[in-house]
Amino acid sequence: MVVKIQQLARWKQAQRPIAVLTAWDVISAHIADQAGADLILVGDSLAMVTLGYETTLPLTLEEVLHHARAVRRGVTDALLVVDLPFMSYQVDRADALRAAGRVIKETGAQAVKVEGGYGAMAETIEALVQVGIPVMGHVGLTPQSVNTMGGFRQQGKSPEAADRILQEAIAIDQAGAFAIVLEHIPPGLAKTITEKLTIPTIGIGAGPDCDGQVLVTADVLGLSVWQPPFAKQYTNLREQGIVAAQQFCDAVRSRQFP
Ligand code: KIV
Repeated sequence: MVVKIQQLARWKQAQRPIAVLTAWDVISAHIADQAGADLILVGDSLAMVTLGYETTLPLTLEEVLHHARAVRRGVTDALLVVDLPFMSYQVDRADALRAAGRVIKETGAQAVKVEGGYGAMAETIEALVQVGIPVMGHVGLTPQSVNTMGGFRQQGKSPEAADRILQEAIAIDQAGAFAIVLEHIPPGLAKTITEKLTIPTIGIGAGPDCDGQVLVTADVLGLSVWQPPFAKQYTNLREQGIVAAQQFCDAVRSRQFP
């Protein structure tokens, strides 16, 4: 089934959980799409997971476009959403429109994701939606603010912080986003947000009461060198890959291959 943006709201209504995976190239895209992911995200986590940066901050728009084009070639059914990288949309609205426009035109993705939702960011989301670019929001632990947050820590622990995240999520909903990621926040807060919002919430480290869940595919496959405490590894392809590659090296040296 080819997934359209409008389907996500129907799934929220029907309480049918939405499964989201990330992808960074055609191989990971094939895996996520053929596994039946509803939405595939070219997350800026690709900076850390596949390019070896320590944070998502150095990632450029050109790098995102390059990876998103490869992912597009591997996706048939899932809805394709691409993260706008740090500082490609925060300075002013014209920048945001240009960056999102390039993503849509040059990669064939259906939507973009941005982090945060206060004040100017809610207005930016509204501006993108008005020109016909669907937007996914992202609140809680927003990795592009890692330096302000003092690390990749759980957010929304105090009542004041929780209320700030709730207000931010409401602003994103009202600005016209079609869905929102809730990252690393207390499950109770994610439940409250999920009940209050009209749009689907997609959780990661946010408990079971979101409308859907997202994981970074490299974590699911056991490929990541490091993974956050809330990630779940379903297999260990990194270890299996090292063993297979060692077998090849040994076979060459012992002249058993070819
Ligand atoms: O960059 C990413 O992969 C993300 C997901 C974890 C939601 O933003």
